[in-house]
This record gives sequence, C-alpha cells and structure tokens, in this order.
Amino acid sequence: NTFVLIMAGGVGSRFWPKSRNHFPKQFIDILGTGESLLQLTYQRFLKICPNENILILTNAVYADLVKEQLPAVLIDNVLLEPSRNNTAPCIAYATYKILQKNPDANIVVAPSDHLILKEDVFIEKINQALDFTAENDALLTLGISPTRPDTGYGYIEYEVSSSEYQVSSSEYQVSSSEYQESSNGIHKVNAFKEKPVLEKAQEYLNSGNYLWNAGIFIWKAENLQKAFEKYEVEIDTLFKLGNEFYNTPAEAQFILEKYPTSPDISIDYAILEKADNIYTIPADIGWSDLGTWASLHAIAQQDKHQNVCNSEHIHLHDTHDCMINLPKGKAAVIRGLENFIVVDDEQVLLIYPKSEEQEIKGVSKEMVSKF
Ligand code: GDD
Ligand code: MG
Repeated sequence: NTFVLIMAGGVGSRFWPKSRNHFPKQFIDILGTGESLLQLTYQRFLKICPNENILILTNAVYADLVKEQLPAVLIDNVLLEPSRNNTAPCIAYATYKILQKNPDANIVVAPSDHLILKEDVFIEKINQALDFTAENDALLTLGISPTRPDTGYGYIEYEVSSSEYQVSSSEYQVSSSEYQESSNGIHKVNAFKEKPVLEKAQEYLNSGNYLWNAGIFIWKAENLQKAFEKYEVEIDTLFKLGNEFYNTPAEAQFILEKYPTSPDISIDYAILEKADNIYTIPADIGWSDLGTWASLHAIAQQDKHQNVCNSEHIHLHDTHDCMINLPKGKAAVIRGLENFIVVDDEQVLLIYPKSEEQEIKGVSKEMVSKF
C-alpha cells in the first residue's frame, strides 16, 4: 500500500532563462548526466515502490514531455492538471483518488527536481518514515541540516532533548546520529515556517534546532485528508466532489471543470504551517534542491577561482565565484566579474548578481509571456 506522488508541474522560474514555461527544469538534464531530474527521481523511487504505484502529477501542457521521458509509467498514473494552482490541490487530487480504492494507502510525496547524492541513505530514511506513518497519525517531512540562510525554503523547528539543545549546528550531525539510536531519529516539529525573510532565516540558522524542509513528505492518505478537512476546507470539499468520478471515464471531465476553481496555494502554507501533528526525520542524503543557479554553482565542479562554466571556450580573467552557462559551442571572454550569474540561452541573455538571484523568479514572470 505504498504510493509515490512525483510532482512535476512547476515552472522552475528561478532557473530562468534555461527553465521556461514550456520546458521547466525537471525535464532538463541540468547535471549533464544524460537524464533529466524527473527521470532520476523516478528511477530512485522504483527502489521504494512498484511502478504501478508511482503517480506523476503535472500540468496538462507537459503531458507529452512526461510520456516521452517516462514511457514506463502507466498512462492512468499521469494526472494532468488543467491549470496552475500550486502543490496543495494537486496533492489533494491524487490523494483522494488513491484513497477511493486504497483506504490504507501510505504515501510519499516528492518534488521532481532535486539532487540526492546518497541514494542508499535516502531509501533507508524513506522506509523508516513509511514505517512510522503507517503506525502513527503523523505528517512527516524529511529535514536537511541548513548551511545558509536561504529564503527559498521551509524551515522546521524541531524538538530536541534538553541535552541536545545546546549543541551548535556544526556539532548537530554527531548528536543527531546518537539520538537516532534511541528513537529512530524522528522528531516532533514545533513550528514550520515557509520561506521566511532573510533576518528570520539567519536567526533560524543560528539557533541550531531548525532544519530545511526538503519538500519530501510521508503520510497516510487518510491522515492527509483529515488535515485538509481541518485546515483547507475549500480544497477538501472540492476534491471530495470527485469521489463519484475518480477512476471512471468521467474523471477527466470533472478535473477539467473543477480543478481550476481550487484555491492556489502550496502544501507548505496550506497544511505544514498549520497542522500540529508534523514530524521530521533528519536525513543526511547529499541533498540539493537545485532550485537556483547558485545552488547548482554550489554543488558543481568549481575551478580554482570558484567559477563554474559549462564550456571550455569560456576565457576568464580576474573573474571569481561566477556561474556561467552558455549554449553548446559558444565562446566568451569575461574580465573582472565577481559573484555573477551569466546565462545565455540564445533567445535570452541573463547577467545577474548571484546574491540577488531570488529576484529572478519575479523578473522571469514579467518576461515569461514573450520569452
Ligand atoms: N503537479 C504540480 N502542479 N507540481 C507542481 C506545481 C503544480 O501546480 N507547482 C509546483 N510543482 C512541483 C515543482 O515542479 C517541484 O517539483 C515541487 O512541486 C515543489 O514546487 P516548487 O515550486 O519547486 O517549491 P519551492 O521550491 O518553492 O518550495 C518547496 O520546496 C522546498 C525545497 O526544495 C517547499 O516545500 C519548501 O518548504 C521546501 O524547502
Ligand atoms: Mg523547488
């Protein structure tokens, strides 16, 4: 009764201009491995649950891309959304549909655009999490030790035992592994803060008892439904209306008509910030959200001046800490640049300070209709 929902309907707007409306980052081979982030995610989950229990949630405009990249996924398991309403409604739709046939379903919800280097640890943690949620009324999220005050993430304040409380975040790794021996490493969450302002993020980072939300959730379908009933009544009501249509030929029509009327909200704001039965399992899985150019810069091979370039035809002088991405075969000469993103995608050229990259989401929104 384990199911996996892979969310692949986002636009990846902070990766603009490489990630576009018609070709967002989950479909791109960002790492240069020959496979897209979506393909890597799907293959990882095949080690956790059978193919027929893996569902891909995406926007209808990406239907062909998903089928092309994941030909093995069952056609009925690709759920197509007619509009962009963020993650809460797509998760509710899939969950209510699954619940109808599988009242006991235990579900993993995951984004499609992350890098996970330590796959063995990841699988172990997910299995521990599934065991826990099978037995407990818990909404569980994978937690990552934070390394910078990133404002693009959710922050999880978790309960630590009094002896642990004093340790600094650098010591945390050791103490958490000790803690795991006694309690399976699962902690109750006191507070969940989605995308805080910088001062808050810095405060959380300093405090040592916050983790980043990896955006990978584990819960029983019935418990998530209970949370929607309590905290997002509109979404709950809407997707319960579908009960008489799910898994019948009338489902597509119901979704086409009703899905766009759903509130537009992410699962983090809709449920995680509000519920009081949130738990976290700290997981050292070699995680990067690859959400932005700087996050790719951080994990990619850097030269001795901390530059990351995707071509040998880029000649740099007196240039440091830059992320440079050009079309195949294109040459460039750059002098005197510090801490910048330079991305040339033929149609669009972006030159932006790396430290201000969260703004790119807004910039791309303005340009998105034309480019
Ligand atoms: N099907 C579908 N429909 N998928 C969507 C939609 C949608 O409307 N919107 C976004 N997604 C997908 C994205 O493709 C991505 O894989 C995942 O859902 C998460 O959406 P993002 O838009 O990337 O969220 P975020 O990065 O701003 O924040 C989330 O992830 C962070 C970690 O990467 C939150 O969960 C944060 O709390 C978390 O720290
Ligand atoms: Mg993201």
